[in-house]
Amino acid sequence: MSKNILVVAGDGIGPEIVAEAIKVIDVLQAEGAIDVTLQHALVGGAAYDAFGDPLPEATLNAAKAADAVLLGAVGGPKWEPLPIAKRPEKGLLGLRAGLGLFANLRPAILYPQLADASTLKPEIVAGLDLMIVRELTGDIYFGQPRGIETLPSGERRGINTMVYTESEVERICRVAFEIAMKRDKRVCSVDKANVLECTELWREVAIKTAADYPDITLMHMYVDNAAMQLVRAPKQFDVMVTGNIFGDILSDCASMLTGSIGMLPSASLNASGQGMYEPIHGSAPDIAGRGIANPLATILSVAMMLRHSLNAPDAAARIEAAVVRVLDQGLRTADILSAGMRQVGTVEMGDAVVAALNAGVN
Ligand code: IPM
Ligand code: MG
Repeated sequence: MSKNILVVAGDGIGPEIVAEAIKVIDVLQAEGAIDVTLQHALVGGAAYDAFGDPLPEATLNAAKAADAVLLGAVGGPKWEPLPIAKRPEKGLLGLRAGLGLFANLRPAILYPQLADASTLKPEIVAGLDLMIVRELTGDIYFGQPRGIETLPSGERRGINTMVYTESEVERICRVAFEIAMKRDKRVCSVDKANVLECTELWREVAIKTAADYPDITLMHMYVDNAAMQLVRAPKQFDVMVTGNIFGDILSDCASMLTGSIGMLPSASLNASGQGMYEPIHGSAPDIAGRGIANPLATILSVAMMLRHSLNAPDAAARIEAAVVRVLDQGLRTADILSAGMRQVGTVEMGDAVVAALNAGVN
């Protein structure tokens, strides 16, 4: 039966990179390797411009009805003056909350071909294969109370609340432990339990939940140390599990280990396996419309979608192999360019992945 994919390209480079990902989907569809129906909807700044709302109800409803959502990126300077409730980012956060996408998987893999593109020494990052499991629907992102209030003195005060319930921590830890069982069985839970009660509870629940996974080696790290260890010796990690805000920060940090934030896909899953798939990079307004953005993170997000939501692991593996092949061919977008490689634009990179996929079939 055909699966429904809702495509929300978003803002900035979103439409450019999503167009390349759709080419990849089209090839697999034409071959009969997958059976999908694509629908399109607006989110973020694009939706605000059209409807005055970064997450129109029609988009949320279409997302709920879909088997999977493919998202580009949201945001840009144009919408920065808007109140937070109308900002493009609210569209993305509303999709995450509305679909209950609590488990965000952010793999950071160093392709050997890109060892020179990392700002870290090749020997520090060579062979890196790390999975960050970020809780995505709780924490200070959604905690109440929040806002900016005016004190009787006339001074204003900004408030956000870091909050986690035991069940929220338990379910994300279970996701991390299950993933680690298929990897090296090592999980590092990241918290700030020396200062924040919220994460003291996080640590307690992580330890308790780990009792159900006797094969897992669980360790704990304070977030400041984890950030330092990520750039000092990143290969010590197998799976990291952490809350929403720490995961946001650590995953950007981890992305640069791999050469470029333009390479990292992500999957955000709910309890029923429905998912949203997006590159972890943003809308990059500075390079939007110039045809130079790296589409590989979005194309690799399609691979994650095929694996996690569409039960097409073979097609997923083929996409990943096609990406390796274009890197082997020496093709590089500007963000991953290094000496001796051939610089290509967004469309040329997408075409090269398509060609590699086709070459794999014949
Ligand atoms: C991410 C992004 C988002 C986040 C923004 C765009 C709301 O940085 O997906 O990491 O903070 O989660
Ligand atoms: Mg982020």
